[in-house]
Amino acid sequence: MARLALLLAACVLAIVPGSVHAADGTTGTTGTTGTTGTTGTTGARQHAMAGAPPAPAMFVRAEGTRLWRGAAEYTVRGANYWQAMHLGMASGPSANRTRVLADLARLRSLGITTVRVLAAAEGAAPHPMPVQRLAPPLMPAPGRYDDAVFAGLDWVLAALPRFGMTAIVSLANYWTWSGGAAQLVAWADRPASDIPYPAQWDPVAREMTEGAPYDAFVDYANRLFDPDDRANPRAQQTYRDHVRAVVTRINSLTGTAYRDDPAVLAWELMNEPQASPHVARWLAESAALVRSLDARHLVTPGAECKNGAAWFRRMHAASGVTLATCHFWAANWGLYNATDPTARSLQGAIAHMHAFVDDTAAWARALGLPVVLAEYGLGRDAWGAGAGLQAYTPEASVTHRDAFYAAVCRRAREAGYAGSAFWAYAGRARPARGPSAELRWTGDPPHEPAGWNSVFDSDRSTLRVLRAC
Ligand SMILES: *[C@@H]1O[C@H](CO)[C@@H](O)[C@H](O)[C@H]1NC(C)=O
Ligand SMILES: *[C@@H]1O[C@H](CO)[C@@H](O)[C@H](O)[C@H]1NC(C)=O
Repeated sequence: MARLALLLAACVLAIVPGSVHAADGTTGTTGTTGTTGTTGTTGARQHAMAGAPPAPAMFVRAEGTRLWRGAAEYTVRGANYWQAMHLGMASGPSANRTRVLADLARLRSLGITTVRVLAAAEGAAPHPMPVQRLAPPLMPAPGRYDDAVFAGLDWVLAALPRFGMTAIVSLANYWTWSGGAAQLVAWADRPASDIPYPAQWDPVAREMTEGAPYDAFVDYANRLFDPDDRANPRAQQTYRDHVRAVVTRINSLTGTAYRDDPAVLAWELMNEPQASPHVARWLAESAALVRSLDARHLVTPGAECKNGAAWFRRMHAASGVTLATCHFWAANWGLYNATDPTARSLQGAIAHMHAFVDDTAAWARALGLPVVLAEYGLGRDAWGAGAGLQAYTPEASVTHRDAFYAAVCRRAREAGYAGSAFWAYAGRARPARGPSAELRWTGDPPHEPAGWNSVFDSDRSTLRVLRAC
């Protein structure tokens, strides 16, 4: 019930046909997404102007509703790989550069040009669920950075050109699995307040945790956007300082400032900022801040585009916004029943996706912006013998997913999208056998069952679909 309520609340669309599946282990949490971060503004600054600035032609740019790099049109053939910063660390429990290199090589062989990574991770993991947040945090306390984590992002950005890739870099996350907007508010609030965590899937207990109503959580996180809120000045300061820290960071391996690095395709202001009375102004101000630091890279709000045409306009209208991105989540939004194996169920999800892609492409065209489907995903087949937690193992079939991915690819191209990025690449990672609180860095963030939306390097049929995209 808690899960259902959460799913429905998360779906601001009014299109909720009946209720959503409830396979054992299938959670529909509040959103699904990922992103990354950095440190040391001042220390690294002295190397700042070391190298000659790269030729402007190497930066991906927008012209009308198209992306270009040099004289060639640039299509985002993308993979969400939010884990990159942590896996890219030199040492520690999350570090695994061997895996990143293998994952990027595999993605490259499929023609993937772009990864979407997270440049943020705030606050310590709440006890006693150590993996409900990314660890170690990039920002353990307001304005304090763990430079070893930032150096992981340095390493990833330095590696991307070898694979001919660029990155969409998320500067913040709305959701709590990396700390997120609510953590910034909690740090700033006086008197101190607790984050009203909504119910989440507990991978050990295999049930939903007790949680605050979804609306209470969103109201709390949205305080980051409200200039009249008592926590706002400090929370907002932490966000803005973080934006500065990332955008002006000097890569410790290459000496290039991130803002001068063509490996960055776009800065994303936040992963999935939710609609609220103040969010449009916040996005406009944040976009202006980024543009004041870096006028060359594309800037996108990071919205899902799930709230209709007026909200799309509001969230993308600011002059600092130069790229639109949208997310489509059929199951999370109650538009797909994951335990229904029928073709009719799949076709229903595809029909909703078609309408969404066509609508959002038209809205972006009206604003003269290119648009990228920065997230789309579908769980592994969750019926029959594979139902429940087993559905998340690499052995579970992916028939609906493969068909859905192919349909997304086709429709995005036909509708004039500048590309798309599937959620998410797990590559060589494998979920633990049975319930486990251990974070395996698959494509699923820590509050979701490992393997749910993951594409493994063993998913040959899915990889074939992606290569043909
Ligand atoms: C989802 O599909 C399964 C299998 O057909 C069915 O038993 C279940 O009632 C469906 N759930 C919803 C909410 O329609
Ligand atoms: C790195 O990742 C690979 C694939 O997930 C795994 O086999 C290997 O054990 C990992 N290495 C470390 C040091 O965790």
